[in-house]
Amino acid sequence: MKRIQDTRKIAVCGKGGSGKSTVVALLARALRDGGACVLVVDSDESNPGLYRVLGFDQRPRPLLELIGGKKQVFPTFSSKMAHRDSLLMREAFHIADLPDGYVVERDGIGLVCVGKILQSLEGCACPMGVLSREFLKRLSLQEDEMVVVDMEAGVEHFGRGVETSIDSVLIVTEPSYDSMELAEKISALAAEIGVERVWAILNKVGSAEIGARLREELLGRGISIIGAIGYEPEIFEAGLEGRPVRRDKLETDIGSMLDRVL
Ligand SMILES: Nc1ncnc2c1ncn2[C@@H]1O[C@H](COP(=O)(O)OP(=O)(O)OP(=O)(O)O)[C@@H](O)[C@H]1O
Ligand SMILES: [Mg+2]
Repeated sequence: MKRIQDTRKIAVCGKGGSGKSTVVALLARALRDGGACVLVVDSDESNPGLYRVLGFDQRPRPLLELIGGKKQVFPTFSSKMAHRDSLLMREAFHIADLPDGYVVERDGIGLVCVGKILQSLEGCACPMGVLSREFLKRLSLQEDEMVVVDMEAGVEHFGRGVETSIDSVLIVTEPSYDSMELAEKISALAAEIGVERVWAILNKVGSAEIGARLREELLGRGISIIGAIGYEPEIFEAGLEGRPVRRDKLETDIGSMLDRVL
């Protein structure tokens, strides 16, 4: 497995609908094919379908349950209170320590889910941001393990420090002004907190000309580009049908992008 020591936890971010979950799934499969045990962390509270994109029949129980629900997040991690005996309170733990049901696993890819907003009344997602941050910080990886985090859309998570325990950031960027602007913001925030390994992955690139325009624009904003994925009918159909992308039908080679990340 061509992995260098300091790339263990990769965050995938970008604008809503840009293709983060799609890229997470392709990346996880490529890492697995390269010999890694991959854990996908679903830290996007409002997006229900990642487990399907990864080919699981059901989603894992949310980690939030392990500390007694959303209201317990701040008291638990701010010190003294209940749930001190929770696994997530340990200074370090391993993937294998997670109780049954909280990680689903298939063909070398595991999935954990921080928590889901299932009712509008549940309101602010901040506790989930804190939980994501604490989980990623305390999760200690074995030599052959890697983590890919499906981040929530936008930049808010950066304010919550989720990124302090990740070492590489991939920004999925589609051909739109908003997407490029967001990529620039994420890239600047990542640089501010010292994450140097930041790249854009272009997605839904409909033609060579659009690809060239995107590249030029992003390079002008100081963002390195690691690769591009076309507007692929197979990805579109998989999204429509709620199933994993069939890679045999997909020409895009995510493996060569990975070589650069690793
Ligand atoms: N390269 C592509 N070609 C065609 N369709 C694509 C491509 N990438 C993503 N899509 C489609 O765009 C939609 C959004 O993709 P995806 O769910 O991966 O985005 P996301 O960034 O995770 O969205 P969200 O912000 O809602 O979590 C899906 O229907 C997906 O199938
Ligand atoms: Mg998503």
